[in-house]
Formats: sequence, structure tokens, C-alpha cells
Amino acid sequence: MIQTKVKTLSLDIGGSGIKGMVLDAGGKPLADRFRLPTPRPATPEAVLATVTEVANHFDDFDRVSVGFPGVVRFGVVSTGANFDGDWNHVPLAAEIEENTGKPCRAANDADIQGYGAIEGNGVEMVLTLGTGMGAAVFTNGHLVPNLELGHHPFADGKSYEEWVGDAAREALGNARWSGWVLRAIETILPIWNPTHLYLGGGNTKHLQVGLPKGVTIVPNVAGILGGIRLWEDEGH
Ligand code: BGC
Repeated sequence: MIQTKVKTLSLDIGGSGIKGMVLDAGGKPLADRFRLPTPRPATPEAVLATVTEVANHFDDFDRVSVGFPGVVRFGVVSTGANFDGDWNHVPLAAEIEENTGKPCRAANDADIQGYGAIEGNGVEMVLTLGTGMGAAVFTNGHLVPNLELGHHPFADGKSYEEWVGDAAREALGNARWSGWVLRAIETILPIWNPTHLYLGGGNTKHLQVGLPKGVTIVPNVAGILGGIRLWEDEGH
């Protein structure tokens, strides 16, 4: 059931920043966004302490959603490829529930970004371009969680993320990196044949190529807005 008055604290744990925003049920921001830099090394202890600090900045919310850049099952993290230390078995949602006293759902960051971008018709796909490459796939608005396409082999013995992640962009420059993003999209489209492919993440602003039909860029705020839909798709 969709609740109309509920206030959601939506948290996004990223490679460079940990962001929070409180939204009403319609996705309207109820307070200014608050961001702290992601601690380095990004160990579970350090990241959880910063997440708690971001959550404590807000006082008026009923529930929490959190996006994490790794595999998350039933609120528990099992990988954190671009983070440090051992993220396997970190009970992210339970830790946040304990620290805020509010119910929390946790999911992969690209999955949450996708919830904020999709329309809910047919097969829809989301790729995020940031520190890493996130991927999500939905059928009629329902998520198939933890796609982790970024670590799949792509070209010359390297993964998608190694060609289109931020380290590759820095090394190749925006023009050549954009060419690799296009090549990745053109490889992915005929496999899943989505009705639409949404591109999200902070690095979409560096793209210098025209995009194929049915591929569009979504604003970064989708990552935060998706935190509401996470509560509407049962199975989380
Ligand atoms: C992680 C994914 C994440 C993506 C974007 C990848 O390195 O494995 O889980 O969605 O980065 O943050």
C-alpha cells in the first residue's frame, strides 16, 4: 500500500560522497540535501560512522532507504568493489535501523537509481556512470536485483567498469572514454533488448557522443528519488 504522508530519508553511499535528503511520498524534498565526503579508506566502520552522521543531520523522517555501491541482499552487503576492508556480511540496513530508530531498506545504488528513473513498462535498463559502472534491470517496474554487469568481461580482457568507470575516464580523456561508453551501450542493448535504457550517475555530464534511440540521460537526483519506490516494490 502506498502511504501518502510518510517521510523518507533517502541516503546514497557513493565513491566520493555520502548524501541524504528527506522526501515526502510524492518525491518532494522536505529539507536541503546534506552531503559529507566518503571517508578513505572506505572501511565498513568509517563509512557507517559517516552514514550515521548524515542521518543524524535530519530529525523528521519515518523510514530510511539507502543505496550502496555493491551487492546487497535482504539489507546485508556482500561486496564493495571500490571500497576498502571486508564488506561481506555487513548488516547495513540493521545498523542504520539501530542508529536512527527507524525502519530501513538497503539496496544496490544502481537499483535505487533505476527505481527513480523507470516508467514501469516492459523491460527497462539503467546504467550508472560514476566511480564504477552500475547496472539494473526491471520488468514492468519490478527489479531483478544486483545485476553487477560492471565486472563482466567486456573488451581486451578488461571489464565494463575498467573501460567506462572513472579511472578509465581519467586515463583516456572524455572523448575516448565517451567512445567506450557508446561501445558498451551498443554491446548491451542487443542482449537485454530493453524498451528503454536510462543513463545515470555524475559522469554522464562528461559524455561527448550522440546516444542511440531509446537511450536517455536521467538527472542525478533519480538516485535519491528511487529511495521512495524501493518501499513500493515488495520483495525488498
Ligand atoms: C559495484 C556495483 C555498483 C557500481 C556503481 C560497481 O563497482 O560493483 O554494485 O552499482 O559500482 O556504484
